[in-house]
Amino acid sequence: MKRLIAGNWKMNMDMASGLKLASDIVKGVQDQSDLLKDNEFLVCPPYPYLAPVQTELSMAVNLGAQDCSPFEEQGAYTGDVSATMLKDLNCEYVILGHSERREYYAESNLMVQQKATIANAAGLKTIICVGETEAQREAGEHLDVVEQQLAGSIPEGANAENTVIAYEPVWAIGTGKVATVEDIAEMHGHICGLIPENVRILYGGSVKPANAKEIFAVDNVNGALIGGASLKADDFIGIAKAV
Ligand code: PGA
Repeated sequence: MKRLIAGNWKMNMDMASGLKLASDIVKGVQDQSDLLKDNEFLVCPPYPYLAPVQTELSMAVNLGAQDCSPFEEQGAYTGDVSATMLKDLNCEYVILGHSERREYYAESNLMVQQKATIANAAGLKTIICVGETEAQREAGEHLDVVEQQLAGSIPEGANAENTVIAYEPVWAIGTGKVATVEDIAEMHGHICGLIPENVRILYGGSVKPANAKEIFAVDNVNGALIGGASLKADDFIGIAKAV
C-alpha cells in the first residue's frame, strides 16, 4: 500500500504564496517521480484556495479540504461548505475531526461521523483524526480515548478505499514534540485492531524531514499528516524522500 503524504495547510498562505507552494510541490514531485512508486501526495489548502490551487496540480498531487458541512443537502447553512461542493472542486479527500476543530468548535465524535458519512456518500475519501491530550496520556488513558474516538467517529461502510485514520497526539501538534517510536508503535498497533482491514493509519504531530525516516519505519505507519512542514515544498517532499 502506498504511503499517504498529506499536507494540512490550516489557515495559512495567501493566494500568491499558496499557488507558488502548490506549483513548487508539483515540480518537486515530478523531478523525483520515483517517489510516486511508494507515496501518494495530497495538499489541503483553505477553502478559498482550493479551486486556484487545483489548477496548479497534476496527477502526481491530489487536492483535499480541511473540513466539510455536516449537512448533506444544499440550503440555509450560512458559512458551510458541503461535501458535494468539495467534490465538484475536484477534491479527493477531506480531513475530518482534526483536534483543532474538536477543541475550538467542540466537534463531537458524532459530528465527525455524520460528516464522514456525507463525505463518503459524495465520493470523497476521509482522513479521520484522533489523538489524546497530554493530560490524558499522563493519566494513562490514551489508548481508551483513541478507541472511543474511533468507535464514535468512523461511519458505517468505512473501508480501505474511502477512509484513512490520522493519529495525532494533541500535545505533538505544532509543538516540535514528537511521540517516541515506542508510543507510535503502541498506538498504531492498537488502532490497527479497531478499524476495517487495510485502512491506512497516518501519524501526525511535528513530522519533518529529520524525523520522518524513523517514524515511517514503525509498523502500521502508512504515511503522515503534516502541518508546519507542509508549508515549504522542500520540507514536504523531503519527508517522502527521508525514507
Ligand atoms: P504539525 O501539524 O505538523 O504542524 O504538528 C500536524 C497537524 O495538525 O495535522
